[in-house]
Amino acid sequence: MAKTLKQLWAILTPHARRRFLTVLLLVLAMTAIETAGVISIMPFLAVLGNPDLVTEQPQLAALYQWMGFDSPIQFIVVLGAASATLVGLSALFKSFTTYTLFRFAHLQRHDISTRLLQTYLQQPYAWFLGRNSAGLAKSILSEVDQLGSNLLLPVIQMIAHGAVILAMLLLLIIYDPLMALLAAGIIGSLYLAIYQGVRVRLGRIGRERREANSERFQTASEALGGIKAITLTHKADTYVTRFRHPSRTYSRHLAANDTLGQIPVYLVEATGYAGLVALVLVLVWRGDDLGQILPVIGLYGFAAYRMLPAAQGVYRGFARLRFGAAALDHIHRDLHLPRRPHIPAPEPWIPQRDIRLAGVSYAYPGSEDRPVLKDIELRIPVNHTIGIIGPTGSGKSTLLDLILGLLTPTRGQVQIDDIPLTPERAPAWHRSIGYVPQEIYLLDNTVAANIALGLSPEEIDPAALEAAAKAAQIHDFIVNELPQGYHTTVGERGIRLSGGQRQRIGIARALYHNPPVLILDEATSALDQNTEYEVIFAINQMHGNRTIIMVAHRLSTIKSCDLLYLLDYGSVIHYGTYSEVITRNPSLEMP
Ligand SMILES: Nc1ncnc2c1ncn2[C@@H]1O[C@H](COP(=O)(O)OP(=O)(O)OP(=O)(O)O)[C@@H](O)[C@H]1O
Ligand SMILES: [Mg+2]
Repeated sequence: MAKTLKQLWAILTPHARRRFLTVLLLVLAMTAIETAGVISIMPFLAVLGNPDLVTEQPQLAALYQWMGFDSPIQFIVVLGAASATLVGLSALFKSFTTYTLFRFAHLQRHDISTRLLQTYLQQPYAWFLGRNSAGLAKSILSEVDQLGSNLLLPVIQMIAHGAVILAMLLLLIIYDPLMALLAAGIIGSLYLAIYQGVRVRLGRIGRERREANSERFQTASEALGGIKAITLTHKADTYVTRFRHPSRTYSRHLAANDTLGQIPVYLVEATGYAGLVALVLVLVWRGDDLGQILPVIGLYGFAAYRMLPAAQGVYRGFARLRFGAAALDHIHRDLHLPRRPHIPAPEPWIPQRDIRLAGVSYAYPGSEDRPVLKDIELRIPVNHTIGIIGPTGSGKSTLLDLILGLLTPTRGQVQIDDIPLTPERAPAWHRSIGYVPQEIYLLDNTVAANIALGLSPEEIDPAALEAAAKAAQIHDFIVNELPQGYHTTVGERGIRLSGGQRQRIGIARALYHNPPVLILDEATSALDQNTEYEVIFAINQMHGNRTIIMVAHRLSTIKSCDLLYLLDYGSVIHYGTYSEVITRNPSLEMP
């Protein structure tokens, strides 16, 4: 329990902590006003039951005199009105405090999910290789909900309710210590026993809920992401079945949590009611008259009316904390992932002499014993065009990821003009690169937004857009065939475009900023021979005035490269000009 509370405090920003304390203060003030409301009912009921008190009871008599009343009835009316006003005011204040409370809890959800997204996006690329995107989306969008509803709100309410109980208890103790402590003891031990009984179960269903939520998200995202394969293989039912189980578990556990949080109130209410009846019977048995009994019942009745929901609130807080602990644990851990300092748009790092790989080896996390690249020595002089070829799986894309600084070599260094490329320097390096990945990821947005990725519509330069699209051989298609030209939306992942059109938009994206370094990973693999020829021709036009690194399968693509590196099983087995490499590896020329 203490650990959960500590974690909860740790994930709040200093600003949020101050707000938390403000909300808490408000809630405590609300409690004080409420208590005053309860106390104010006592003189009213007392005088109502026994009007003679106006003359007998010294304080009341003084008040009665001071206000200059003529009859006890007048006095009773004023006392009643005052008490009602206080309760009314307390209700108003309560509304305001409730609003502040909910606003705080829900805005924290917003704040924490934003920070979570920010933290994830600041992780190194390699971190994502071991994660599932649906799982991360789940944490940002769904787990954080647990935080608001099952942790923050209940904790504040728990403290507030704790204060209510304390105030009411004090009040009752002043009146009759033995009775008060007895009542508190009974209710307290009842709740304690219930909590002990459900504690372990709440913790377990909390963990199971989190796991089921992960499965739910992952299955839904896989099913919808692979819709083509699923339609063709008619495996929709399999996915629905796979989804049904965790989805049901998720809902069942939420229901169990709500129930376990709610049920005791009925039990305790019944006990409270029985206690009140017992109290009346005792008083009657003692021979008290109605005038004496009424204020006592009023006091206990009102105190119970306030105290029972409060006791329930405290209990529910404990139960929720227990249930939400698994979600909090996870969010707490993720929010404390190391963050890279944000460097606002550094100046591009433009290579002046060469890009080098010096003794670079790389093994993916989790496969440390099987390096994908081994002792690579490679030099790319600036403004030259370099081709990297090799069989599938030989490590070409991995090599590009290292040059891009997305991955960090396990041994050796990537150097630009002899300066090692470190994660800190990578942002500046990225600003001088245009990169076409093997799989182009298109946004469900316009062609223009896809080419000028990350820019808002006002920021897009139409001339640069057109130049990039022309070089990628896609301009004519965009203008002549698409209904709204550059403003046509391409659908999710560019589903409304052909593979070749998508690829050319990817190439235009890399060219949009007119980068000094161009890195292409099988950038023309989806194009027919003629279009490929035209794209390569356009790229060759840049030959000599920018550094180009091309990975290709088809030899025709890399004929005009200044230097070729042939990769096999993660090692450079040959390098030289096109004809040199081909002469030594005649098998390469086979289709
Ligand atoms: N995230 C990863 N974790 C572990 N191994 C990986 C990971 N990504 C790639 N690999 C492995 O690294 C090796 C090289 O992959 P890479 O994608 O670099 O090959 P490639 O030469 O680009 O192949 P292709 O021509 O098919 O694109 C492969 O054997 C692959 O299984
Ligand atoms: Mg590849």
